[in-house]
Amino acid sequence: MQSNGTLRIAIQKSGRLYDSSIALLQEMGLEFELYRDRLFVNVRNMPIDILFLRDDDIPEYVRDGVAQLGIVGSNILEERGPEVENLLPLNFGYCRLKIAVPEQSKVQCIQDLQGMRIATSYPTILSRFLSQKDIKATPILLRGSVEVAPALGVSDAICDLVSTGSTLRTHRLRVLETVLESQAILVCQKNLSTDKKIFVDKLLMRAKGVQDGRRCKYVMFNAPMSSLDVIKERIPTCRSPSIMQLADPSMVAIHTVITPEDAFWDVIEVIRACGGSDIIVSPVEKLIR
Ligand code: PRP
Ligand code: ZN
Repeated sequence: MQSNGTLRIAIQKSGRLYDSSIALLQEMGLEFELYRDRLFVNVRNMPIDILFLRDDDIPEYVRDGVAQLGIVGSNILEERGPEVENLLPLNFGYCRLKIAVPEQSKVQCIQDLQGMRIATSYPTILSRFLSQKDIKATPILLRGSVEVAPALGVSDAICDLVSTGSTLRTHRLRVLETVLESQAILVCQKNLSTDKKIFVDKLLMRAKGVQDGRRCKYVMFNAPMSSLDVIKERIPTCRSPSIMQLADPSMVAIHTVITPEDAFWDVIEVIRACGGSDIIVSPVEKLIR
């Protein structure tokens, strides 16, 4: 890929977003080696460096142009405000920001939090939520290890990210309410130079191609020629399929892509109801629209 200058992409050093971020970059065609405890790696086949950072720091680095692209949870973007440009939701890194209390706490609902202290790394989101619910509670800002705050007597409740829920279970905390849903987002620096913007757009096209490919299936099946019109009508995705004549002149082979908008199994049922048979389903590696 041609470009003037090196582009830097910031991803999480370790944790929830790491594996899927690496997988996405590799499927986008970036070739690189992974070393333990590395801070950055060079991409072999493109003028790109990958920086490994704490997820919480990524928006700041992208805002300041240390990296031009980043992969970060929407939870952090929401907390920080519009520092960077959101390019693409990535459909991974799903988690929720939740309010939780110690299992034995008397607090049963969020209204019981009146006058209490809530430890969090998300004071902006939490304060907005509390004022919407008309609850007067005090956010206590902690940068990490929020889950231990109640046991240390630092707070009465916490507001923290929950992914698998194992951190809450380990610290015997009980969920009261979900404050925010989050997923990974591809972000870029605002006001990029034209060169960098062109490069970023090429990478964005690849990221979308990978993502659309993952969510689509290539479907081939045989059907009676006489049911072709019904199939086209009942399966929106089949409006303009590839059609091949079979040796038996009363039959055709139909090739089409089922997109995420079509419920996959519903489409298969319709194909069968229309006389379709010998249905072959293949994964789509990339889909460039
Ligand atoms: C979040 C959160 C919890 C953990 C919850 O941390 O602060 O520690 O994930 O996950 P679980 O429900 O699967 O146990 P994050 O990934 O943001 O890492 P960081 O605290 O190091 O930034
Ligand atoms: Zn984090």
